[in-house]
Amino acid sequence: MSREQQKKLAAEKALEFVEDGTVVGVGTGSTVAYFIEALGRIKGRIEGAVSSSERSTHQLEQVGIPVFDLNAVGPLKLYVDGADECDPWNRLIKGGGGALTREKIIAQASERFVCIIDEAKQVEVLGEFPLPIEVIPMARSLVARTIADLGGQPIWREGLVTDNGNWILDVHGWRIADPVALESRLNQIPGVVTVGLFAARPADEVIIGDTLRPIRRA
Ligand code: 5RP
Repeated sequence: MSREQQKKLAAEKALEFVEDGTVVGVGTGSTVAYFIEALGRIKGRIEGAVSSSERSTHQLEQVGIPVFDLNAVGPLKLYVDGADECDPWNRLIKGGGGALTREKIIAQASERFVCIIDEAKQVEVLGEFPLPIEVIPMARSLVARTIADLGGQPIWREGLVTDNGNWILDVHGWRIADPVALESRLNQIPGVVTVGLFAARPADEVIIGDTLRPIRRA
């Protein structure tokens, strides 16, 4: 099965987690684009969505789903999003599409985080995909130097400005054995807005193609 077919099937399966009458948290990316399409078909059953990016907001509005401010709707039952990498404990690298900050906020505000991926995103150890870090523009060099001291190779994603007006550094060359510890360490660097490691708050469920994948326990 192609990667696109797997993404589409995963997005369709995620509909099973949507409860009637709720506001659904919606991520960003090509896999989520399939989810928004699917959500559009059942839009009469939900109240609306909270969106993680201007791109997803635009698509949600196009299919006729009302988009709410997170502050107006409070905690959410469900957040559905893709990922760039996923380890056996459902810890993720996200931010390939540059929407990591709002994605992390909505994941944290949601009771259940369902991650939809194709099988190529599965890894034993995170880090082959460069780790995105959103930074305040004036802190770019400071953060990059600190990351280099920690053994990473940061590359500025030049030309990209996030929905929050910030910049992204993509960190190459890290084999992330302890993602919870690294997420916490990187969060201490002044100027870091969001680290694209979703480890302290991993996904609750991971769907690959049409299959709900069991989480590794030990
Ligand atoms: C955007 C993300 C996406 O979820 C991630 O990049 C996966 O995207 P795609 O579904 O297009 O492969 O984190 O910031």
